[in-house]
Amino acid sequence: MKESQVTMVELVLPNDTNILNNLLGGRLMHWMDIAAAISASRHCHNIAVTAEVDDLSFNEPIRLGNIVSLRASVNRAFNTSMEVGVKVEVENFKTGEKKHSNSAYFTFVSLDSVTGKKMPVPQVIPETDEEKKWYEDALIRRTQRLNKKHGIIHN
Ligand SMILES: CC(C)(COP(=O)(O)OP(=O)(O)OC[C@H]1O[C@@H](n2cnc3c(N)ncnc32)[C@H](O)[C@@H]1OP(=O)(O)O)[C@@H](O)C(=O)NCCC(=O)NCCS
Repeated sequence: MKESQVTMVELVLPNDTNILNNLLGGRLMHWMDIAAAISASRHCHNIAVTAEVDDLSFNEPIRLGNIVSLRASVNRAFNTSMEVGVKVEVENFKTGEKKHSNSAYFTFVSLDSVTGKKMPVPQVIPETDEEKKWYEDALIRRTQRLNKKHGIIHN
């Protein structure tokens, strides 16, 4: 799992913000998608496209001048798809304060770069207890995701 993990660091600049000087939600989603795509491609050594993004909420504004660190990890690989978790941490470099601001799970599908056909992906090997938990939970989330996609509801 470690081999495909990605850390991406961005500085919130004026062009990334709205008129309140807060980071645009779309910009953050773009950064998360890029970090997740790099992690997925590193894992499968192929093109990987976004098939789905689970819930993403914006609970607190991220300010102009903050440092945004995104950590992406392929939690589990299935047949042609992978679940990638992305965790976002925001840092105020003046105070040194850091906090977790957002997380989301992305599903990527590996495609052959020439034919565009879906390609089988190698399995992920979790090592630490934390990685093993991400790996186990990813299967539960996949089942929920696919049930939702196919309109299967369990009460
Ligand atoms: C993603 C895409 C390749 C899936 O192709 P498809 O023929 O519909 O795929 P399938 O139904 O055979 O599913 C392929 C895999 O993706 C998974 N998958 C497909 N849709 C999914 C969804 N909404 N949520 C979770 N997983 C999904 C399937 O479970 C399957 O996984 P597995 O092979 O590991 O078992 C295709 O829909 C596509 O090209 N979408 C556009 C991708 C893109 O442009 N992304 C950028 C967004 S702007």
